[in-house]
Formats: sequence, C-alpha cells, structure tokens
Amino acid sequence: MTGLTPSTRYSMTRRPLLNTIILVPVVILALLASAASKAAPPCLPVGLQCEHLVNPIGLDAPAPRFTWRLVDVRKGAKQTAYHLLVGTDSLAVARGTGAGWQSGKLASDAQLVTYAGKSLQPFTRYFWRVEVWDKDGKPSTSAIAYFETGMLNSRNWQGAWISDRNDVDLKPAPYFRRTFKTTKAIKSARAYVAAGGLYELYLNGQKVGNHRLDPMYTRFDRRTLYVTYDVTSQLLAGSNAIGVLLGNGWYNHQSTAVWDFHKAPWRARPTFCLDLRITYADGSVELVSSGKGWKTSLSPIVFNSIYTAEHYDARMEQPGWNTASFSDSTWKDVIYRASPSPTIVAQAMHPIRNVEAIPARSITKINDTVFVYDLGRTIAGVSQFSVSGPAGTTFRLKHAERLYPNGRVDQSNIDAHFRPVGTSDPFQTDLFILGGKGVETFMPHFNYKGFQYVEVTTSRPMELTRDALTGYFMHSDVPVVGQVTSANLTLNKIWAATNSSYLSNLFGYPTDCPQREKNGWTGDAHIASETGLYSFDGITVYEKWLADHRDEQQPNGVLPSIIPTGGWGYEWGNGPDWTSTITIIPWNVYLFYGDTKILADNYDNMKRYVDHITELSPSGLTTWGLGDWVPVKSKTPVEFTSSVYYFTDVSIVAKVAALLGKPADAARYVALAAKIRNAFNARYLNRQSGGYGSGLQTELSAALHWGLVPDDRKSQVAATLARRVIADNNHIDVGLLGTKTILNALSDNGQSDLAYAVASQETFPSWGWWIRNGATTLYENWPIDATSDISMNHIMFGEIGAWYYKALGGLKPDPTQPGFKNVLLEPHFVTGLDHFEASHDGPYGTISSAWNRSGKAVHYRVTIPPNSTATLKLPGEPATHKLEAGTYQFDIR
Ligand code: BGC
Repeated sequence: MTGLTPSTRYSMTRRPLLNTIILVPVVILALLASAASKAAPPCLPVGLQCEHLVNPIGLDAPAPRFTWRLVDVRKGAKQTAYHLLVGTDSLAVARGTGAGWQSGKLASDAQLVTYAGKSLQPFTRYFWRVEVWDKDGKPSTSAIAYFETGMLNSRNWQGAWISDRNDVDLKPAPYFRRTFKTTKAIKSARAYVAAGGLYELYLNGQKVGNHRLDPMYTRFDRRTLYVTYDVTSQLLAGSNAIGVLLGNGWYNHQSTAVWDFHKAPWRARPTFCLDLRITYADGSVELVSSGKGWKTSLSPIVFNSIYTAEHYDARMEQPGWNTASFSDSTWKDVIYRASPSPTIVAQAMHPIRNVEAIPARSITKINDTVFVYDLGRTIAGVSQFSVSGPAGTTFRLKHAERLYPNGRVDQSNIDAHFRPVGTSDPFQTDLFILGGKGVETFMPHFNYKGFQYVEVTTSRPMELTRDALTGYFMHSDVPVVGQVTSANLTLNKIWAATNSSYLSNLFGYPTDCPQREKNGWTGDAHIASETGLYSFDGITVYEKWLADHRDEQQPNGVLPSIIPTGGWGYEWGNGPDWTSTITIIPWNVYLFYGDTKILADNYDNMKRYVDHITELSPSGLTTWGLGDWVPVKSKTPVEFTSSVYYFTDVSIVAKVAALLGKPADAARYVALAAKIRNAFNARYLNRQSGGYGSGLQTELSAALHWGLVPDDRKSQVAATLARRVIADNNHIDVGLLGTKTILNALSDNGQSDLAYAVASQETFPSWGWWIRNGATTLYENWPIDATSDISMNHIMFGEIGAWYYKALGGLKPDPTQPGFKNVLLEPHFVTGLDHFEASHDGPYGTISSAWNRSGKAVHYRVTIPPNSTATLKLPGEPATHKLEAGTYQFDIR
C-alpha cells in the first residue's frame, strides 16, 4: 500500500484537481496490553449476550440467539472455529461436557448462533459458554453466561387477570395487595407481571426494579407484554406483602386529543395478572398469584395520563399499604377480568428508566406564588419535586419547552392537538397536594413529558429553592454504541442534540415528539433509524416495534401511519413514504447486526405491503403519501417521493427474498423494481440535462441516494445536484424525505466538501442555525419563528447524525457481509474541518476512524475489530485496500 498514487479530489466550487496522496502505513499498533492481560490468552470471547441482552431473565424465545465478541489485539485476529454449550448444570457447562446442547466444534467465524437443542423448559436458568479457536487454531473459552426462560407458553400462567370494580372513566389509580408467608429457606424467587395499562410492583414496601412505564406500549388487544423480575433478595422469612399500583398508560387513555386514543378498542380499567414463583432450597416451588384474596383500594394518584400529567394528593396516602403489617380491612375485593389479548409475551428489551438526573440550572421568581425552573436543556421525562408545607398546599407544575418574553412558560408550540374537555386535565401539568408531613417528594409514576422549563404555581405565597426540582431524562435505556467528535464545536453540538432527540423519542417504540403527540410516527422513525443504530444498541426496541407493525397490519397489507394505534392513521399519512418502516427498519437492523431474524419475521408482512401498493399502482408510480414533510420552501411532488419509496421497498423485498432462499420471489421483485425504475425515469429523468423533475434538491438527491439513477447518468445528475445546492447558497432546501438524501447523495457522489459546507451551515436554513439559537435538541421546523409544526424535540430531521459516521468517518456496513463483518470504510477529509473521529461498537467490537489535518497532511487512524475486515477507500484513490483486523495509521500528503 505504500507508494505514490495519482488521485482525484473534488472541491465544491473548483473543477477536479489532481493531487498526490502518499499512503504510509506508519505503524500497526497493537492496543495497549496491560500487565494483567499478559497472562490472558491472546484471543478471548467476551460480551456474551442472549437475544441481544446480557444475562436476560424471562425469555419466551423458543430458539434464543447467542452472540459474543473477541478480545484479540493481534493483526488479522480471527475466529476459525467455535463450540457453544448450553445446559442447566453450570458445572457441566464449565467442564465442557454433559451440557444439554452442544453445537459441536464448527469451523466457522460466526459470532451469532441460534439455539438448536431440544425444547427449552419454562422458568429455567440455562448456562452457556463458547469456546473459540483463534487464527492460529488455539482455543480459549469464555466465562459462563446465562439466560432464563419465562412462561414460554401462555398456558403456564397460574394467576388470574384482576382489577377493581371501577368504571373506565374513574380517575384515581388503584392499589392492590395481598400478604403471604414463606415457610422455608428461599433459593430464588421471580415475579412475572403482565398488565393492561402500567404498573409498579412492590414487595415489603420496596419498589421492585428500576424500570419505568412497564410494560411497553403495544396494541393491547393483540399482544400484551409481561416483565420478569428477580425478587429473591426482597422476600422475607415469614410474613410478606406484595403490592401493585396500576396506571392507565395507553390502555386507558382518559385525555382527549385528535388521535382518539380515548376511543381505542382495547380501552378499559387497568388490569393485571401476576405469578410470584418462589423456589425453596429444598427444590419445592410455591406460587403466589393474582386472584381472589387480593384487596384493592384507591391510591393518592388521583389522576394519571401518559399523555398529559399526573395529579397526586398526599393526604390520601396510606402509609405501609404494601407491607405485611398494614390493615386492609377497609379495602375492597377484586374482580376477575378477561385477559386483554390472547397473546401475553415476554418483554425482552432494554427497559425505560430515569437515565439521567438533571438538576435545575436556575429558578426565577415571577411573584409570590409563581416560580420558573430551567433545566438548561430540553428533555423527555419527568421532574421530581421536594417541598414541605401545610396539608392541602397545592403545587401546579406546568412543563414546557419555551418561555414567553415575560418569563412564564409557553405551551403554545406543543398543545396544538390536545382537545381537553373541561379544565381538570391541564396539559403537561402535574398537580401535587401536600399531606403536611415534613419534606414530601413527588415524581409522576405513569407519565412523561417533553420540557426544559417547569412553572410551579403554589396555592399560597411561599419561597421555593432551586434544588427543590430535579429533571429526569427518561427513555428506553439502550446502551450507547457510537461516538462522534470533531474540531467543529457546532457539529459536536448537533450530534449531541440529535442523540438527545433520538432518545427523547424512544419509549419502547420510536415517537415523533415527547410532548404534543408521543405517537409512533412511522416516517420519522425510518428516517432516523440509521442515526439511532450508529449511536445506540436499538435492536431489541426495533424488533418489538416491528412486532407492533405485524399486529397493526391489515390482511391486505395496509399499515397505519402511527404504530401502535387505537385505529387512527389507516386513512391518513400512511403511504409508502411513511410506512416503509416495514422494509427499511428490518433491513437497517440486518445491516447493523447481521441478524436475519427480523427479516424472516417480517418477510410476509413486507410482501403484503408492497403487493398492496402494486395493486394500487399498476403503472409503477404511486401518489399515495404525504411527501417531503415540512420543507424549507420547495415541495417535491408526492408521486415522486412515494414512487421512490415504493421502489426502495420492492428492492429490499427482492434482497430479503434472495437471502431467505426464495429465488422465485427474488426474481419477481427484481423485475418489479426494474419496472418501477423505468416508469420513474421515463417520467422524471431528463437524460439530456441530467436533471429530475423540476430539479429540486429532494428530487435529485432522492433519485441518487435510493438508486433510481441509471449508472450512465449518475455523475451528470450529481453535477446537477451540486449546481442546485450552490445556487441555493450551499444551504438545504428539503423537507423530511430530502434530509435523508441530500447530504448522502452529495458525499456519495464526489461532493463531500459541498455536503460538509451544507451540513456545517450556521445560518438559516440549517441544523447549525438551531444550535446558534440555543437548541439542545432537534426541531420540527427550520425557521426558529415558524408558527406551526414547531415542536422543539423532533427526531425527524436527524439523519445528519448518521451522515457524520457515514461520510466523515466513512463507516458503513457492507450489505454483502452485514453486521460490519466487513466495514466499508470511506472517510472524507473535508475542507474546513481539521479533525474528526467516529467509532461504533458493532457485533465484532469497536470500529474507529479518526483523522487529523496538519498543514497539507492528513493523519488517518483506523481500528478494525477482530474477526472482521474492511475495504478502505481513501479520497481520490481509485483502488481500494483490504484491511484485516488491527489498528492502522496512514499519513496522507
Ligand atoms: C408529526 C410528524 C409526523 C407527521 C406526519 C406530525 O404531526 O409530529 O413528525 O411525521 O405529523 O404528517
């Protein structure tokens, strides 16, 4: 690779120049080997996961997937064989003999293996380990990991679905309790809880676990999730009490808004089913289950809405309600209820948590009874408020993303679709009434909001302090798997804002915004899916959300525009530009994880979906869709963008068919894709000028990015696009769909300097313009002073986050070797940026790509993890270089 290579670089305004790049693999760096690791084998399998989770309990998957990574810093590190063992006897698994299932030693570099032993038993802990053989054929063995099965089959539930007798419109949240005795030494105990609605589980006065808003939102009448907890340490010898607090969540939506969730077909008073399974040291098992014998009472949560807020009257607290010594003689009996759905399945995913505590940055006293807290950044979550005062003192905590000039909170950008009946359910406003017992703390149990500011109004004059209020950023607690940093501080802030908006919109399903809607808008989610996958380990959330898709799909293939839905969205907004989630998200998950399960699970649904579009659109073009939503100024015709997505869907189905071994389907969809492409180009491509449609940024970039441009016209269309962007003063003129394509189409077609010029703008319209105006999250509209579509925490314009990885870091998955088995590395050392680095923890380990410019030289350093390779393409170099695992540094002059 050493030597002089004539090369070509493009700049945005000049014609191509000839430069000279000297590639000097300066050194192949072994990662620092600590003294301790000297004794360790050079290759070690680590990071064992089952179903993409670390030591999960309560799984229902009949054939769980196992994954691991290698620690091996040697150049060209590889796995040449593996042997996986699974069994219930940890000693047998450790010995490597006598385990229940052994894959046998297989000469394979696979690091994702699906269980193929005999049927798993419910409520059972399985231990597993993997032995791998390295590039020299030397073996090493992982530590032991485990997974535990849950119900496996709905028939294994013993409890009954129960609730109180109250009506669906009754506001207060119910408590449930019962006591029981343990008689022998306890070996282990598990609680399995399914709910229509939301719940918190308590044992002997303590909340179980640190999850929030369990179970995740699903279409409750089709599929309801249950959660498993290890409660061994919370049980006492002798008397015990179990308590359950039920919230409404999306199951009993009492707030009224335009999407009619209050009319959802599943809506009912919350209900739950619980099995507490105690295994004693002598091997016997005892169950404490929901059923008659439980007692119920109303709790101090006098109102709770996932959509608006929670109201809490501490005067109604019943101290000790979830302890054994409490007298429940005034409590009522429970009633039996039908199960919300026939399918009750394990929630196998990263839970929602209070992930980050954010102390209030300031407090402003407006008058004797009104104070405004500022967290300093926009989040999704809740505020926790601690205060003391006489019983009956009331606090109203009104949450908002912005302030009026007079310093009061302004909700006018986020309450647009709320249709309150009366005044008892104010938007994003918690009510807290003191019980008068010293310092009292309130934090909503069953609600979250989008906000930066909290205006607290007290029922009588008092002084509040800054530290009385803390914000908690809540979201699906997905592990961080990506990092970006650069010499451009605005770029770094855009990246951070993108992550904040992505996470603010991840609550077991992706949402559009955490305040106005909390809806699982499909279009926003597929556009943001790469951004999410580069930075966060999102596979468990996406697999669950695709199951939500399957629940919502009509037999004829139609999907609603928001998922889950209570029925709204089958008639509006659900064309291929939005509901292509059914193809695009499985495909992206496959590219990032190399796991075909999500493709196989959704293949029929993808097919039904595209077949339905084909039925509607015999010409190959479709006008079904919303188009380039919230554009800067120019709007591409809907037929253009929807046909692009139709083509994209069909192309994905063709690839998936081939992968799943369905050649006849593959051939059919390849032919259909060609037909759509031809119809599209016949209608929109100007072969002479190399233009599309009327030559808008979205038109030109979408045709390029999604592969509709004939090969012999690509450079011409790219040149037309560059001219268009330059004529637009190096600024974007796109909406949602164009944000996906504009930067990529430029940087993938020789215009990376221009792409960076657009991406790094700090004047309107641009991402940087928001940051210059104080944004800490991404906005829904380009002008700061827009008057509609003005949420301040939307992820829909978030593709720029993925673009940093793809274009500047040059890290892309290779569709022919997905899961970054081979990394397509193509960094762009763009003009105007002197330092950039990106890393992504893929299935094989951390891939990193970092460059520094000094004078005319660029120092480029890249790490390829063990058992994977890269195809490196350096700017201007016509040839590519194959890299094996290792760390490389290049000096490019
Ligand atoms: C949402 C968007 C969504 C759109 C679809 C809006 O109300 O907030 O993000 O994609 O509707 O039209």
